[in-house]
Amino acid sequence: PKGAVVVVGSCNADLCTYTPRFPAPGETLLGTEFAQGCGGKGANQAVMAAKLGVAAVSFVGCIGDDGQGRMMRDAMEAVGIDSKELVTATDGKATGVATILIDASGENCIVVAPGANANVDEAFVRGAGPRRAIEGASVLVTQNEIPGEGTEAALAIAASAAAASSRGTPVTVANPAPAPEALPESAKTDVDVLVLNESEAAALAHAAGADGFSAEGEDGGAEAVARVLRPRHASRPRVLVLTRGSKGASVVVVPSEAEAGAVTEVSVVEGVPAAAVVDTVGAGDAFAGTLAAVLAASEDPLARIGSMERMREAVRRSCTVASMSVGRKGTQSSYPSRADVEAIDASIIVSL
Ligand code: RIB
Repeated sequence: PKGAVVVVGSCNADLCTYTPRFPAPGETLLGTEFAQGCGGKGANQAVMAAKLGVAAVSFVGCIGDDGQGRMMRDAMEAVGIDSKELVTATDGKATGVATILIDASGENCIVVAPGANANVDEAFVRGAGPRRAIEGASVLVTQNEIPGEGTEAALAIAASAAAASSRGTPVTVANPAPAPEALPESAKTDVDVLVLNESEAAALAHAAGADGFSAEGEDGGAEAVARVLRPRHASRPRVLVLTRGSKGASVVVVPSEAEAGAVTEVSVVEGVPAAAVVDTVGAGDAFAGTLAAVLAASEDPLARIGSMERMREAVRRSCTVASMSVGRKGTQSSYPSRADVEAIDASIIVSL
């Protein structure tokens, strides 16, 4: 594989219960099925990126000294992820757990108990191993299931390394899920590609006072959200990708600090219809993992994110892979293999 993706983030054991409908507060329901699997937004992104087989993938995070932690490590190693920086907690914290309900339409509700993910703080991320992994990557991916200071440290390390590198890498892909109350300053300034779903975009738009935000617009409100973002620095492009489920995604390029506030290009990528929606858990992570792998596998990730045509293509590929994942049950277990992807659309694994 050409470039390298590093994911700094969360691992959770997913405890999935399938139910005809969601219970009301205080109500007990009988579900139809239960399954435990590997999840956590960070781990999911890393696994999807690795399964495509186009980029080397490493993971920085923390698990408990327990069976669920071993399950997480085994799942990563099985798809070839470098898990040297997946640390086992020595303070007794358990592996993170996500309690997930999936209803008959494939919708889900999730509550995460972070456990050992809470150890991935600033000191952890600034340690020699994680720092080396971030500095050596073509693409860094972050989410919002570890302490915010850990994510911020990862983005700051990447920003300094990129400034010192002739390729301007690592480029940073941030997917602040679940939505924070407000986007931290560093996520505004140290992020090259910000990936939000519709509810995350609405939450951040309201927190930032974005004028004219309406999820009903043709672009799902992407342009209004982009107006409140500031590019990383004058010479770097800045991209917002708003994912819209079966409706596809909107891509907005805000190219330079001088033009911040004036969105230059907005493009809507058509949705890729899923054959049947069985379980949408982890589809957003499959999208972000694919996007990171596709960018890392290209000759020049920084130039790719500055080109609307290439970004549209990267987003189109990510929509296709995400739509494949909703047709199967489970989180990582629903992710297509490289062979599955090639059978549907062989262009996805071709260098961008
Ligand atoms: O995005 C899906 C993921 O959210 C699940 O795997 C669960 O662990 C939670 O992190």
